[in-house]
Order: sequence, then C-alpha cells, then structure tokens
Amino acid sequence: MDAEFDVVADWTRAAVEQLGADHAIPAGCRGSASPSALAWLAEALEFTAGTRLLDLGAGIGGPAAWAVRRYGVRPVLADPMEGACRAAARLFGLPAFEADGTAVPLRTASISTAWCLGVLCTVEDKAGLLAELHRVLAPGAGLGLLVLVAQTTHLDPIPAGNSFPTQTELQDLLSQSGFTIEEQVADPRDTPSSWTRRTDRVDALIRRQHHDDKAYLQAEEQEDRLGVLLSSGQLSSQLLHATRSSRAWS
Ligand SMILES: C[S@@+](CC[C@H](N)C(=O)[O-])C[C@H]1O[C@@H](n2cnc3c(N)ncnc32)[C@H](O)[C@@H]1O
Repeated sequence: MDAEFDVVADWTRAAVEQLGADHAIPAGCRGSASPSALAWLAEALEFTAGTRLLDLGAGIGGPAAWAVRRYGVRPVLADPMEGACRAAARLFGLPAFEADGTAVPLRTASISTAWCLGVLCTVEDKAGLLAELHRVLAPGAGLGLLVLVAQTTHLDPIPAGNSFPTQTELQDLLSQSGFTIEEQVADPRDTPSSWTRRTDRVDALIRRQHHDDKAYLQAEEQEDRLGVLLSSGQLSSQLLHATRSSRAWS
C-alpha cells in the first residue's frame, strides 16, 4: 500500500514536473481516473463556486484540482500518505494534510460536502471511516463515493491490502453509519484519449525511471490484479451520491 500510494505518488509528481503542468490532473486522478465520473459526482453533489469540499483519501489531488478548475470549489484534502499530500501541495497548491480517514482533524459538522474516491476498498475499518465522515459533515450534507463493489464472494486474484464490499455490505455500511443513498450508477469508465495520452506519458516516464524498483513492481502487480478483476466483471466500479442523515450515528 505504501508503495502504491506514497512512493508512486512522489514519482508521479516528479514525472509531471518533467512533462508539464497539463499532465497533472489526469495523472493525479488515481481512483476515479475519468472526468465523466467526476462530472457525475460534481453535478449530483451540486458543486458551486465556493463549495467547501473535503476530499478524504485524496491521493495526489487530481480530482480536487479538477473540481477547483471546473466549479471553483474550495477543497481541503486529507490522506495518510506523506508523499501524496506533498504531491498535492506541490502540483496543485492545494491544502493537504496527513490524516487517517478514521481520525480527521476537522470540527464536528464543519463540512458541507465530501467525496471519497476509490478509498473504501483500501480501508479495513470501513465503518470507522464512514463514522468519521458522518461526524465532520453537517446534517443533510452530501457525500460522493466511488467504490469498487465485489460481484462475487470469491475474488481471484485478490490485490494485497484491499477488501471490496458487496453491494449489500455497502448499503448496510452506509445506512448503519447514518447515510442515505440518493442515487447510484455504474461508473462510465470512459476516459477520453485526451486524458489517457497524458497518463500514458506519465506512466511511461515512471516505468523508464523506476522499472527495477521493488515499489514499482509491487504497484504494477497491484494494478494488474485490479485490471483483471474489473475486466472479468468480478468487480464493478460504482458512483454513489449519499446524504448525511440528521440522526446521530450510533
Ligand atoms: C486509489 S487511491 C485514490 C486517490 C484519490 N481519491 C483519487 O481518486 O485519485 C486510494 C487513496 O486512499 C488513501 N487511503 C488509504 N488508507 C486510507 C485511510 N485509512 N484513510 C484515508 N485514506 C486512505 C491512500 O493513501 C490513497 O491515496
């Protein structure tokens, strides 16, 4: 996990700095990886200029930077990986702090909108992370999620450090954490070539510079496994718009 989200985050920052700033947003979207997924969530959450957005598990900040550019939101980013926070600050000048999603240093009910993209399946304590989101969000606030949902109970191969909820588990987790699902759609995953051209260039540069590094090989194996699970239909990428109910979480 450190290899993928810390070391590779730093390499991605360095590659973008070499290739040019126009590579930053596509290369910085590690969970969502598609502007159409981000647009669906942004519209569902009714982003406007000035929306204060918590991006939990923000990675190197591509999605938040996209939302700043398209909607003028005011994001705050949190991620446990130092390399990711450093990259978000350097590439996009966004406020990013190191925090685990189960203990976010923000005041109770201080946030009006949050999204959490491609993070739940990397976290063992999913209920703890959702409880923390419920705590920092104001009653009625919107939450956007991108979640890889298991379509079978016997996934093969299983990427190290991941645990993917089934649809029923995801629904139960959200309702038990005090969230109501307003809408859910399959992630279109239709990234245009204007994006993939740039992510491919960043990936190629990282490969050239780090191909024999252990962290590179681990991250690549992880990505290959995810690719197999998605293309074989064992996993499905889902977008959700939920709202924080006003009742207290128990
Ligand atoms: C697949 S990446 C997605 C990054 C970003 N949301 C995006 O869409 O580009 C998953 C992110 O979750 C973060 N993460 C892992 N465990 C976490 C935790 N306990 N709390 C918050 N974030 C976590 C990782 O550091 C990583 O940046």
